[in-house]
Amino acid sequence: MSRLVCVSNRVSLPRRAAPGGLAVGVLAALRRIGGVWFGWSGETCEEPRAEPDVLVRDNVRYVTVDLRAAELDRYYNGFCNSTLWPLLHYATGRFRYASEDYEAYQAVNAEFARRLASLLRPDDVVWVHDYHLIPLARYLRQHSFRGRVGFFLHTPFPPLQLLRVLPSHAEIIRDLCRYDLTGFQTADDLSAFASCLERSPERPASPLGPGSRIEPAGCAARLGVYPIGVEAGEVASEAAETMGEDTVQRLIASLLGRRLIIGVDRLDYTKGLAERFAAFEHFLTAFPQNQGRVTFLQIAPLSRSDVLAYEEIRTGLEQMAGRLNGRIAEADWTPVRYLNRNFSHATLMGLLRAAHVALVTPVRDGMNLVAKEFVAAQDPADPGVLVLSPLAGAARELTGALLVNPYDQRGVALALQTALRMPLGERRRRHERMLGAVRRHDIHHWYREFLRDLTGGGLACGSDAAAASPVDRLPQRESGRARGRREVGRGRGVQDGSR
Ligand code: G6P
Repeated sequence: MSRLVCVSNRVSLPRRAAPGGLAVGVLAALRRIGGVWFGWSGETCEEPRAEPDVLVRDNVRYVTVDLRAAELDRYYNGFCNSTLWPLLHYATGRFRYASEDYEAYQAVNAEFARRLASLLRPDDVVWVHDYHLIPLARYLRQHSFRGRVGFFLHTPFPPLQLLRVLPSHAEIIRDLCRYDLTGFQTADDLSAFASCLERSPERPASPLGPGSRIEPAGCAARLGVYPIGVEAGEVASEAAETMGEDTVQRLIASLLGRRLIIGVDRLDYTKGLAERFAAFEHFLTAFPQNQGRVTFLQIAPLSRSDVLAYEEIRTGLEQMAGRLNGRIAEADWTPVRYLNRNFSHATLMGLLRAAHVALVTPVRDGMNLVAKEFVAAQDPADPGVLVLSPLAGAARELTGALLVNPYDQRGVALALQTALRMPLGERRRRHERMLGAVRRHDIHHWYREFLRDLTGGGLACGSDAAAASPVDRLPQRESGRARGRREVGRGRGVQDGSR
């Protein structure tokens, strides 16, 4: 039986959970199936050690390497988060390009492949995650790894006309074809990628769709759509249990009977937070009867703070929240509560359950698991209402949400008013429909489908996965202190379990 080896830029280590849906999904797969998680430790150092750090918990073996500060700056802050991230989210206005960043991106991928290849055994199944590591399969093959290698893109995939902004876009497309299976969040993302191929010089013979085989440049790959989900049952019980906890109870008491609108997002310009603040202000002006009666809680843990665009959005949001509260607040009412800290996952689920409305209005998002968690966290007897952007992948499945264009302040304001006045019967009907979808396509469905298509069902489970191989012979060494080692990318107050 083969063993599962997941690879991602950042590894979500026990007691130091990484933000985002990727971490949730990979961890769910590895905990259930067992295997290895290889990637960056989240720390920089002056000179990375030859041996990676290894930590074994349950049936997961976490194998991490450090990066040099300069290399991280060009690779992670530069090409990954100033070039690829905005481009994949259609945000060409934020797009920056430097050929040195692209070279660092290639160098880090080559180095990851070199270090990983020495730890693999021939029948391992390698599952690579996200835009940081698109070229990894090419480099792994150069190290003569012949086992199966799959790739899942957690972000959206833009149309070719947009992608062309990137000088090396053809290479990125070709590298995505070097995987045995390339997975996307939605059918829109798959068809954007497929149409890039149809319009490229290495045209496939027939029209492309889910399950298609493509053979550009002599490579064979398959495409598929695998919408990522949540642990619906676990979210529901966490939410119900933490409703009684101190943090949630204190929040509820502090509302003094006011209705609660909630937003929970990593602080990122793709999440539409500036647009959301402006729309909330418009709502309070257009429907003034809500003044003093509604509180908007936005939780936005800091993210990628060394990237200028993130620093700018952070400053902008602080100013907007301050201005709004300064203009509209009363001595005993603050309309916006804006927090850059995070809470444990369980507490967040309790906060979602306590809310009457969730505002999930990204201007572009691969999936958005907060939308699904909000649905799973609700009390089915008295559920809250989801106000959702159609520009999030989750909108394909969550058809019971009120869909709003995040740029349309009037539309968002009207949706909020509709949500707050929605009768119980309609809230229940909409929630039931969405809960069905969230349960059907949960996190286990996501990795099972992907891995079934990648392997045809031949993966080791549980302790079988730990059978001897180079990676298993490495001694455990948890984050030993190397010279000049520094933790990166976890903003002030961001705690474990962040999204
Ligand atoms: C998004 C990306 C993930 C990434 C996460 C956190 O969800 O798709 O690949 O891990 O954000 O971002 P960070 O830059 O802090 O690792």
